[in-house]
Amino acid sequence: MTQANEILNSNIHEVIVTTTNEEGQAHSAPMGISEVNGHILIKPFKPSATYDNLKQHRQCTINYTDDVRVFAGSLTGRRSWDMLPCQQIEGFYLSQALAHTELEIVGFDDDDPRALFKGAVVCDISHAPFRGFNRAQSAVIDAAVLVSRLKMLPEEKIQQEIAYLLIAIEKTAGPRELEAWGWLMAKIKDSGIELNDE
Ligand SMILES: Cc1cc2nc3c(=O)[nH]c(=O)nc-3n(C[C@H](O)[C@H](O)[C@H](O)COP(=O)(O)O)c2cc1C
Repeated sequence: MTQANEILNSNIHEVIVTTTNEEGQAHSAPMGISEVNGHILIKPFKPSATYDNLKQHRQCTINYTDDVRVFAGSLTGRRSWDMLPCQQIEGFYLSQALAHTELEIVGFDDDDPRALFKGAVVCDISHAPFRGFNRAQSAVIDAAVLVSRLKMLPEEKIQQEIAYLLIAIEKTAGPRELEAWGWLMAKIKDSGIELNDE
C-alpha cells in the first residue's frame, strides 16, 4: 500500500494539539490527526498559529479530552485552559486531558493549503479513564467543525445540520456540553445566520 492510500484509509481522530510559540506559551487547537506506520500526522491549514508554532518548535502534545468546551472554545475565542508541563518534551498538556501523547516532529511537507507534520511518539501518558461515548459531545464537535467552516458553507446546510445535532444535545448533554453548545450557537447567530434552537 502506498503512503497516500494508508493516509486515506486511516481513521481521523479529533484531538486538541498543543504547540508552543516563540515566547514559550502554549497554543491549543482542535485538529483531526491520523496514525500511519506508527507516526502521528498533523495537517494544519496555512496560515495558522499551529503551523507557525510547529515550524519553529518541533515538539507538541496530542490531548485526548472529553471536555468539548476546549473544542468549542478554540473556535469562539476562549483558549485560557489550565496547562501542565510535559514530562519528556518542552511543551504543555491540558489539565483535563484523559491522556496525552508527547511528540517529536520528524518529518515536514510544506504542502498547500495544509502542511503535513509527521510526529514520532516520545511518550504516551494516561490520566483518567475513558467513560464511554456521549452523543452531545459528538454533536458539539460536529457543530464546532461547522463553525470553523462558516464562511464556506451555505446558510441552509448549517441550519439543517444544527437542527439535527440539537436532538442529541437535548437528549444527552450535561453542563459542559450545554456551555460549549451555547458558545457555538452564539457565534453562528453573530455571523447573521438565524437558528431555531430554543
Ligand atoms: C473537530 C475539528 C477538527 C479540526 N481539524 C483541523 C485540522 O486538521 N487542520 C486545521 O488546520 N484545522 C482544523 N480545524 C480548525 C482549527 O481548529 C481552527 O481553524 C483553529 O483556529 C486552528 O487555527 P490556529 O492554529 O491558528 O489556532 C478543526 C476544527 C475542529 C472543530
